Amino acid sequence: MRLSIYLLFVITSSCLFGQNRIGTGAVSELYTSVCASCHGAELTGGLGTTLLDVAKWKYVGKGKSFLEYVNEGSPQMGMPAYEGALTDAQIRSLEIYIDEMRQKSERAKGPLVAETDGVYSAGGYSFKLETVVDGLSKPWSIAFLPTKGVLITERDGSLRMFKDGELKAPVEGTPKVWANGQGGLLEVAAHPDYQHNAWVYLAFSESGGEQGGKKAGMTKVVRGRIIDNQWMDEEVVFEVPAKFHRSAGVHFGTRLVFKDGFLFFGIGDRGAQDMAQDLSVPNGKIHRIHDDGRLPKDNPFANESDAYPSIWTYGNRNPQGLDLHPSTGEIWESEHGPRGGDEINVMQAGRNYGWPVITYGMNYNGKPITGITAKEGMEQPKHYWTPSIAVCGIDFYEGEVFPDWKYNLFAGGLASEELHRLIIEDGQVVKDEIILKSVGRVRDVASGPDGHLYVVLNGPDKVVRLVSAD
Ligand code: HEC
Repeated sequence: MRLSIYLLFVITSSCLFGQNRIGTGAVSELYTSVCASCHGAELTGGLGTTLLDVAKWKYVGKGKSFLEYVNEGSPQMGMPAYEGALTDAQIRSLEIYIDEMRQKSERAKGPLVAETDGVYSAGGYSFKLETVVDGLSKPWSIAFLPTKGVLITERDGSLRMFKDGELKAPVEGTPKVWANGQGGLLEVAAHPDYQHNAWVYLAFSESGGEQGGKKAGMTKVVRGRIIDNQWMDEEVVFEVPAKFHRSAGVHFGTRLVFKDGFLFFGIGDRGAQDMAQDLSVPNGKIHRIHDDGRLPKDNPFANESDAYPSIWTYGNRNPQGLDLHPSTGEIWESEHGPRGGDEINVMQAGRNYGWPVITYGMNYNGKPITGITAKEGMEQPKHYWTPSIAVCGIDFYEGEVFPDWKYNLFAGGLASEELHRLIIEDGQVVKDEIILKSVGRVRDVASGPDGHLYVVLNGPDKVVRLVSAD
C-alpha cells in the first residue's frame, strides 16, 4: 500500500512539481562533490568562474562545447580535466543543472511579466484576462464550433457545451474513460466540415487490457454527434489491441489535427521510454489515419510488416500540443520532455525525433539519460526549454484583436504556469517571450473565432481570454 502511494506520488509529482525539482537530486550531489569547491555552492564562483553568468565564460559557447571544455579543462589555469573521471552523460547532466540554477537566479531578480492591477504588458500590447467559463473541473481541451458553441473536455470524463453564456450539464452518453493519473477525457475537436457532417472527435484513455496483473490502458479516438446534449452515432476512429495497453498512468499524448482528409494525433511513450524507438508499438509516436479511421496506404512504414501501420513519426516522448501552421500547412508539435528538454517540433513523415537516444533533458531524479543532444538521422527540435516549462497545448494565433501576433505560436506551460509567445520566421523560432506568468497551469490555448486568444487553465479550473486593455 505504502509503495503504491509512493509510486502514485512519483508519477503525479513528475509533472506537477517539475519546477520544484530544479537544483535537486543526484545531479546536485554530483555538483556539490565535484565542482562546488571551486565554483561555489551557489554557483557564483570562487577559485573558478561564476557559472551563473555565461557572458563571463571564455571558451564554452565560443567555439567549444560544455562537454569538450569540461573533458579537457584548463589545467594550467586550475580547471581540472574530467575526461575519464566523469561520463559524458554526467557532464551533460551538470550542464542542465547549471542551466536550471541560472534560470532560477534570473527569475529571483524580479517578475517575468509586467502586470499592474490585472493589466499585463507583453508582446507589444496591454491586455487583461477575462473569465469566460468558470465552474469546470480539470478542463483539458477546448473546441470552437461554427454554430457558436464551445466544447470543453473535463479530464474525469465529462464533455460540456458552453453556449450563449451558459455552461450546460455534461453531454450524456460519452465514452467511459480511464481517468487514471494523466489519463481521462483529453482532446475534443470538430471535423473541418462540421457544418455539414456534425462530427465531433474525442481522444481519451481507455482501459481494456492488463499488464503484470494490473489494469492497463491506452489512448483511443472516437467520433460522434451531439444531438440534444446526447452523444450519438459513435464510431471508433482509432484503438489499439489490448496487448499494447500499459498500466502506467502517464504520457497518453493526443491532440487532434485534421489535414487534407487525414487525422493526426500523438500517443506518448506511456512511461516506457525505449518503446518510442520501436516501430512495432503505437506508443511514443505521432499517428496519421484517414478521418474516418481507415489506414492510409502511403504512411511511411505501411510497407514494413512489423511496423504499426498508423505511425507517421517516432521518437516522441509525450506530445501535448499539435497545430497546423496557418500558412505553410506544417504540423507543429509540443512535446513534454523529462527534467529539461521540452520541445517544439515540426512533424515530417517517417522522421525520428530522437527520444530517448537524444534529449535536452535528464531524469527527474537528476541522473543523466544520455550525453548526447544530437545524432545523425534524428531531428532537432525547432525550440526547447531546459529547464522544462512542462509544455502543453499550442496554437497559432489567427485573430485580429492583436494583429502583431498573427501566426505567432502560443505555448502553454503547466508547472511553470506560463504562456509563451514564439515568433517564427522562415520556419525557425526566432523569439520566445513569456506573456503570462503565475495564472494557473496552462493546459490549452486556442485562437477563438472572435479574434481573442483563449486559455484553458487548471487550478483555477477555468477558461479565460485575453482582451485588449489599450
Ligand atoms: C579545482 C578547481 C575547479 C574545479 C573542481 C572545477 N573547476 Fe571549473 N573552473 C576552474 C577555474 C580556475 C576556471 C577558469 C579557467 C580559465 O579561466 O581558463 C574554471 C572554469 C570553468 C568554466 C567556464 C568555462 C569558460 O568558458 O570560461 C566552466 C563551465 C566550468 N569551469 C565548469 C566546471 C564543472 C562543471 C566542474 C565540475 C565537474 C568544475 N568546473 C570543476 C576551476 C575548477
